[in-house]
Amino acid sequence: MTMDATRQRLLMCRPTYFAVDYAINPWMDPTAPVDADLAIRQWEQLRQTYVDLGHEVELIDPVPGLPDMVFAANGGTVIDGKAMAVQFRDPQRADEAPAYRAWFEAAGFEMYDPKHINEGEGDILLVGDQLLAGTGFRTAHASHAQLQEVFGYPVVTMQLVDPRFYHLDTALTVLDEQTVAYLPEAFSPGSRAVLRRLFPDAIHATMADAEVLGLNAVSDGRHVVLPAQATDLAAKLRDRGYHTIGIDLSELRKAGGGPKCCTLRLRQGKAVK
Ligand code: ARG
Repeated sequence: MTMDATRQRLLMCRPTYFAVDYAINPWMDPTAPVDADLAIRQWEQLRQTYVDLGHEVELIDPVPGLPDMVFAANGGTVIDGKAMAVQFRDPQRADEAPAYRAWFEAAGFEMYDPKHINEGEGDILLVGDQLLAGTGFRTAHASHAQLQEVFGYPVVTMQLVDPRFYHLDTALTVLDEQTVAYLPEAFSPGSRAVLRRLFPDAIHATMADAEVLGLNAVSDGRHVVLPAQATDLAAKLRDRGYHTIGIDLSELRKAGGGPKCCTLRLRQGKAVK
């Protein structure tokens, strides 16, 4: 572990019951074959990568009949020991919310319940001392005010405009407390202007990177775990001094998910060092 990397506490869910049985985003085609065993092996490689980087990985038990539960980022938003539960847009994922809520409660987090549609860290990303909150497809704009009230960080609304990049974490990656990478085309003109203002040094990803879910990456401030297919983005990250680790999650991508979707950050009052 280098000086710049932050040790992270992460929550993941083994894709034991993973499948693409319904389509709630443009990546999902229930008629296309999915290799369920390969999905588990690829996910296992992601988990092992985090362990090798020195992160602490916690596991929540998968629930039969909830094929998207592997996407733990959608299970909640956890900051400073407070956990906000989620409310999914789609009925197919609704039962994941109480399962994740029960896990947070048992783990001792202070619980808050969402008043509006809120898909957790899929749409809500902490960058330094502010929250970027996506809306347009899943998380409701009305939930942004509640997030600000609960967590006490200023919330900046990000309007998503491309259905392929339906969660904020498919269009933007937090690299460290000051830096992000994003696909400009995934955002409304106003949100693009806000991103330029807040992050003048941001990395701009290409459509080719975004189309392999390259922005669905996990950074500890120094190492960036991202889809192996996002080669342009990986090169740009290395130019900036990040160490990149490519992971092949081809099977989970058939549900519209990548490394970040599989990973929920658990933030205590103070970062685990
Ligand atoms: N099939 C899931 C859905 O459409 C994928 C979720 C991906 N998660 C994420 N954080 N982007 O809800």
